[in-house]
Amino acid sequence: MASGKLLRQLIKSGAEGNHKAFRQVSEEVIREERSKNHHLLANDLEKILYGRAQSIQKFPFALDENVPKDKERGISLLQIKEPARRLEDIVFSDENSSLLEEILHEIHKSEVLKSYGLYPVDRLLFCGPPGCGKTVTAEAVASELGLPLSIIRIDSVVSSYLGETASNLRQVFDFISSVPMVVLFDEFDALGKERDDAADHGELKRVVNAFLQMLDGYSGKSLLIAATNHDHILDSAVWRRFDEVLVFDLPNVGQLRRLLSIKLRGLRREFDIENVEFVSQLKGMSHADVERVLRRAAKDMILSGKEFLTERHVQTAIRREDVRKSRLKRR
Ligand SMILES: Nc1ncnc2c1ncn2[C@@H]1O[C@H](COP(=O)(O)OP(=O)(O)OP(=O)(O)O)[C@@H](O)[C@H]1O
Ligand SMILES: [Mg+2]
Repeated sequence: MASGKLLRQLIKSGAEGNHKAFRQVSEEVIREERSKNHHLLANDLEKILYGRAQSIQKFPFALDENVPKDKERGISLLQIKEPARRLEDIVFSDENSSLLEEILHEIHKSEVLKSYGLYPVDRLLFCGPPGCGKTVTAEAVASELGLPLSIIRIDSVVSSYLGETASNLRQVFDFISSVPMVVLFDEFDALGKERDDAADHGELKRVVNAFLQMLDGYSGKSLLIAATNHDHILDSAVWRRFDEVLVFDLPNVGQLRRLLSIKLRGLRREFDIENVEFVSQLKGMSHADVERVLRRAAKDMILSGKEFLTERHVQTAIRREDVRKSRLKRR
């Protein structure tokens, strides 16, 4: 907890409406918490301090109020989110890491490119198995660019009324052309899948084609990201529409160690991540699976009244994850 002196200064500057002093003292509090190794608290405080300030600066208009809706059902076709996740909290393969660096560099330098008649990439395809970072990366990219994240809700776009799906898509594209955002068509292949019944193959094709045509015709300022974990069903007509394709795979041993050091930040532990043997037992798990294992291990530590995380806590959590997986497989 911050010292009494700092707390007094903090409340005083807040009560007096002195923003400059409030910011300075808050930064001092964060530094103090970090020096005590309270990293989680320090990160949270930083998010509150800078996240809020950024959002006021960057999103001054009420985006939510203008979100398009499905006419028949009145439900929003997309969800606007203020991004909170950061790129430095995500583990990437070397290939994705350099691709993302290039992409962001192009976007940051878009004005220079435009002066030469060139445009930065604005259509990305993310593919790979569940839980390996497609959605969280879209959010972190939005955060990096200081833009809102707009997640298209495919289930609400696909309407049971003939012709309504294409009109919903039209509305979505009109909206995302009007404001710069990072737009995530999450599990966009569901556009097709939802209609994948024998009776309606024609409609399925039309929906996917309508999407691809709108993608072709899109010339707004938003960065469009389509994510799928069924890349094998996508044909070349889909692939060629995207400027870059990023494949998110299960983590290898090196990436697992990086993931452990990110996810265990701020937690006191008895082991050195570089030497732990349980890493090999995590092979084959997704990043999200590993996160679940570590969360369970941390809960186990806390509930058993221990102050340090041990290898045994993690190993017990891994065994429970294996049991969970085999239970799911039996279904
Ligand atoms: N590469 C990664 N680095 C760090 N954390 C990750 C990574 N991938 C996933 N996670 C963690 O797992 C959670 C779920 O990941 P995410 O939703 O991005 O997966 P996804 O690839 O979009 O999966 P799905 O195909 O099911 O939509 C994230 O919120 C994040 O906390
Ligand atoms: Mg996802």
